[in-house]
Amino acid sequence: MAKKQDELLNSNYDGIQEFDNDLPKWWLGIFYTTIIFACLYAPYYWFHIGPNSEEQLAAELKAIQPTTNSAAPAEVSSAQLLALTKDPGRLASGKEVFAAKCAACHSAEGQGLVGPNLTDEYWIHGGKITDTYKVVTTGILDKGMLAWKGLLPENQIQDVVAYIYTLRGTTPANPKAPQGEKYIGNE
Ligand code: HEC
Repeated sequence: MAKKQDELLNSNYDGIQEFDNDLPKWWLGIFYTTIIFACLYAPYYWFHIGPNSEEQLAAELKAIQPTTNSAAPAEVSSAQLLALTKDPGRLASGKEVFAAKCAACHSAEGQGLVGPNLTDEYWIHGGKITDTYKVVTTGILDKGMLAWKGLLPENQIQDVVAYIYTLRGTTPANPKAPQGEKYIGNE
């Protein structure tokens, strides 16, 4: 029997009636596709077959910071770093690195902006020059301080660490309010 088109259904809502037509093929196609998609999607994410968004983010961060993951900073003693603070050539290099890479967040004179003030006596991650070296090398990734190991050559990291050490006790205009603990000492 030929397919019956346009058969009116028995329902009548305030004068509105409907035909008993088949659902369009394209519509059914989309509908079944969503069901298939759900069957793949749900196990993949909910039952953890694939990586979840946090793991994907972690993997991407790892990819752009290849050397930071477990990177213990190279063994550099405070004596070595303090010696650089007396070396004009290395300080000049450190100053250049600072202007190019750090000033955006710590301000041109180290007075702080997004990142903390580097000229005062207060330090979130410790005031020893080796603490500074560690922070600059491995970063505080979840707070927005990059790990510079791998982004800068080792000698430039040491130069900039020495350079910012010489900013201590300077008094630039508009300093950012102190953060962290007061550090007393000269290591
Ligand atoms: C994208 C912004 C940004 C850049 C660029 C940046 N920093 Fe930072 N830095 C931060 C932030 C934010 C913190 C504070 C982290 C925290 O709250 O633990 C920080 C913290 C620090 C600290 C520790 C301060 C403390 O109180 O213990 C030092 C040292 C430091 N940065 C040095 C540098 C150096 C050197 C460079 C350049 C090579 C640099 N930073 C580039 C954002 C930045």
